[in-house]
Amino acid sequence: MENVHVLDHPLIQHKLAILRSKDTGVKEFRELIGEIAGLMCYEATRNLPTEEVEVETPIATARCRVLAGKKLAIVPVLRAGLGMVDNMIALIPSAKVGHIGLYRDPVTHLPVEYYCKLPEDIENRQVFVVDPMLATGGSAVAAIDFLKRRGCKNIVMMNIIGCPEGVRAVREAHPDVELYLAAMDERLNEHAYIIPGLGDAGDRIFGTK
Ligand code: PRP
Ligand code: URA
Repeated sequence: MENVHVLDHPLIQHKLAILRSKDTGVKEFRELIGEIAGLMCYEATRNLPTEEVEVETPIATARCRVLAGKKLAIVPVLRAGLGMVDNMIALIPSAKVGHIGLYRDPVTHLPVEYYCKLPEDIENRQVFVVDPMLATGGSAVAAIDFLKRRGCKNIVMMNIIGCPEGVRAVREAHPDVELYLAAMDERLNEHAYIIPGLGDAGDRIFGTK
C-alpha cells in the first residue's frame, strides 16, 4: 500500500516477538518498546536530506555528509507513545518534543483529548508522531488532524503494531502521511483491541494493570 512501510528487519521482528509475550514483564517491555522505536527511527529517517561538509581528520580532509539542517520534532501520543521517545532523541538529539494527550473512551472507543503542548515553531518542522498501537486509527487521525490545524505539513506516523482497520483510517483521512509499522496484525476484536497484538500498551509500559 502506498506510503505504508512495514519494517521486517530481523532485529525488529525478534524484539517484537518478545514484546508480544504475556510473560514479558514491565521492565523488559519498556526496554523493548524503546529499542524497537530506535530501530524504526533509523528507517523512518532514511530520506532526510544531507549536505556535504569538509572535516579535517588527523590525516587529511574528508568530504562528509551531515543532516541538512532540517528541523525535526517528535510528538508522542500520551501515554504509551512516551515509551518511544528516549531512544529516538538519542538518535536525533536536536529534535524538539511535543505532547498530545488522548485516551480512548472505553465504550465508544473514540479518542478524547486531554493535553497538548507543542514546540512553538512546530509548523516548520518535520514531525514524527509516535504511538505503539494503531487500532481503530481514531487516535492517530485525531493527532494528525490536530498537527495539521497547527500548520504542520510534513508528518510521519510511527506505530509498532497496526491492523488493517487503523491503516485504512489513516490512509483515508491523511493520504499524504507516511506510515511506519513494525507489524501489520490481523484485525480488531469486539473491544477494539488488536489481534494478536500485545494487549494494552500503556498499561504494560507503566505497569498500571
Ligand atoms: C492506546 C494506544 C493508542 C490508542 C490506539 O492508547 O496507545 O493511543 O490506544 O487506539 P485507536 O487506534 O483505536 O485510537 P489508550 O487510549 O489506551 O491510552 P493510554 O496510552 O493512555 O493507555
Ligand atoms: N490500544 C492498545 O494499547 N492496545 C490495543 O490492542 C488497542 C488499542
